[in-house]
Parts: sequence; structure tokens; C-alpha cells
Amino acid sequence: MPIASIAKAKEELNKKGYLDLEVDPTLDLVEEIEKLKKEKNAIILAHYYVDADIQDVADYVGDSLGLSQMAESTDADMIVFAGVHFMAETAKMLSPTKTVVLPDLKAGCSLADSCPAPLFKKFKEKYPDHKVVSYINCTADLKMLTDICCTSTNAVHIIESIPKDTGIIFAPDKNLGAWLKKKTGRDLVLWNGACMVHEIFSNEKITKLQVRHPEAKLIAHPECEAHILDKADFVGSTSGLLRFTQESDADTFIVATEAGILHQMELKSPDKTFIPAPPNNTCACNDCPHMKRNTMEKLYLSMKHELPEIHLEPDVIEKGRACIDKMLDISAKAGL
Ligand code: 13P
Ligand code: SF4
Repeated sequence: MPIASIAKAKEELNKKGYLDLEVDPTLDLVEEIEKLKKEKNAIILAHYYVDADIQDVADYVGDSLGLSQMAESTDADMIVFAGVHFMAETAKMLSPTKTVVLPDLKAGCSLADSCPAPLFKKFKEKYPDHKVVSYINCTADLKMLTDICCTSTNAVHIIESIPKDTGIIFAPDKNLGAWLKKKTGRDLVLWNGACMVHEIFSNEKITKLQVRHPEAKLIAHPECEAHILDKADFVGSTSGLLRFTQESDADTFIVATEAGILHQMELKSPDKTFIPAPPNNTCACNDCPHMKRNTMEKLYLSMKHELPEIHLEPDVIEKGRACIDKMLDISAKAGL
């Protein structure tokens, strides 16, 4: 989110004493949230990585592409984004006349943070003839420097839509970028960014799990490092991984992505076994600390008070949105 927008949203929260509000612990939050949805014509969009109770109360749970498509097409008056900054910001760009709220303004993204726009601008100057493809996990400022956005679901299609003789800079995820180089055979210039969650998986512990469960399929998100992707039976976006577990004949899966996705996997295939891939330390670091900032209490408060609201300047919306529109166009033509 542009620094000015965060400052404005914070000021608004402080002025209204929002951060001091407490939730009555006797409230039935599911009931209250359902009431607020109707009262305010609100829609809750949730990413697969948020907690199960939030996924269960959401109107739509999906990956970054599906969430963007929903944000663009909804006729709700208010979009409540149970996810992180860049997702809520993207929703605001796609539906600028709607109220977009993010239950916790501090829900950022280590990957988006790994590519500050002013540094990237200098980097880009070294490759004046290159097109810039940015993963949607980036700030609005970076989107303003981007030709076409992508998500992990459509990244291969986006790269392949660019003529072969045109150079491409890919930002900010070096792991997804390296995987795209292999998949498309294109020589991408990579920004050196990464996601803190997907870089934490332990190769050694995964191997031990594979020895203990020889029948299990290892499935991984392309934000993981190459040594994990090289040994995976399937690599895909969150929705791709979910679909694979439903369609595969296997009944055990070692899942190398944020553990929140296991909720939908278990709901869709209740007879199958899902083992979260272990991190290389003893804490639960394959939980995204940003996604996990979303709680039922914050969701309820954000709907009730319509805060924290995402504000973006008109020029940020116009310039930032162009690369998302191109992505949505290419995705629609590819039937994604
Ligand atoms: P997708 O759900 O689009 O695969 O993205 C994963 C992710 O890291 C979102 O932050
Ligand atoms: Fe960002 Fe990684 Fe969390 Fe996704 S899982 S929001 S990429 S830090």
C-alpha cells in the first residue's frame, strides 16, 4: 500500500478510537457477521490461508486470481477482505467506488515488502527494452511500474503472451521466477525477493516424511525453493493444489504451502490425509503471520465500523489497475 494511504488509514483509525474497541465475548460472531452482511450488502472474500472459522463465514474463498475476479464482478456495496494488504488494494483498484475494508491494517506480505518500488525503479532502468511482469503479491506502487500482473494460476500464460524476442523482468518472487524460467524456457531477469513462509520448508524433514509415507504425493506452491519444487509430484497455485488433491487417486498428500489451505482440502476430500510440510525450525512458521492477523473479532469490528478502509488516490488506481486489467483479459481468453 502506498505509504500515504497507510498513514491516512491509520489516522482515521486513531481519530475514531477504533484500535481501543473491544468485542463482547458473549456475542455469537457468526450470527452478527451474517446480520452485518445483509444490513450493509457486504461480501466477505477470503484467501485459503486465513483461519478455518473465517473461511467458513466467507462468501467466497479462493486464490489471488479468483479473489480479483470476484472483487471486480461483485455487486456488493462493501468488500471485506480477509487476506492481506495487496489483496485489499487490488480489490479497491478493481472496484474503486466500493468500500473496501481489511480487518487488520498490519496484515502485510513479506514478499511484497521485499521489492520497494523506488529500488525497483532503478533496477528497471538497467533494462529499458524489457517488459515488467509482476506477481500480484506486490504493492500498488510496484504495480504502477508493471506492464502485466500475474498470479501463480496464470503466470505461465502471461509470460507466454509476450513475444519471444522481448526481454522480461519478473518481480518480486525469485522462486516463482526461477520455476517460470524452467516451465517457459524464457530467460527472465529476476528480482531477488521471496516469501518468508514458502522459504521455510525443510528438505530433510520432508524426505523423512516421504520415507514414512511412501504412498504420499508431495505437492508444492511455486513460491517454494527449487530444491522442494524439484522433488514435488505436483506444483501449482493454491487452487491448483486443491484441485489436484480432489482429482488424484492418491489418498495421502504432503502439502508444501501455507497450512490454511488444508481446511478446504479436508472439506473437499474428507477421506484423504493431508500432512503439512514441516518447517526447518520448531515453530509453526508455515503459518503466514500476516494472514493469521485476521480474526473473527476483527472481521466483525471491520464490518460494523467499515474500518480500516483502503483509500487509494485516483492516479494510483488508474496506473496500478492497467497491469491487472491486462492480466484479467489474458486469463479470460485462456479460460482461467
Ligand atoms: P495463490 O493463492 O494465488 O496461489 O497465492 C498464494 C499466496 O502466497 C498468496 O499470498
Ligand atoms: Fe505474503 Fe507469503 Fe504470506 Fe502469501 S504467504 S501473504 S506471499 S508472506
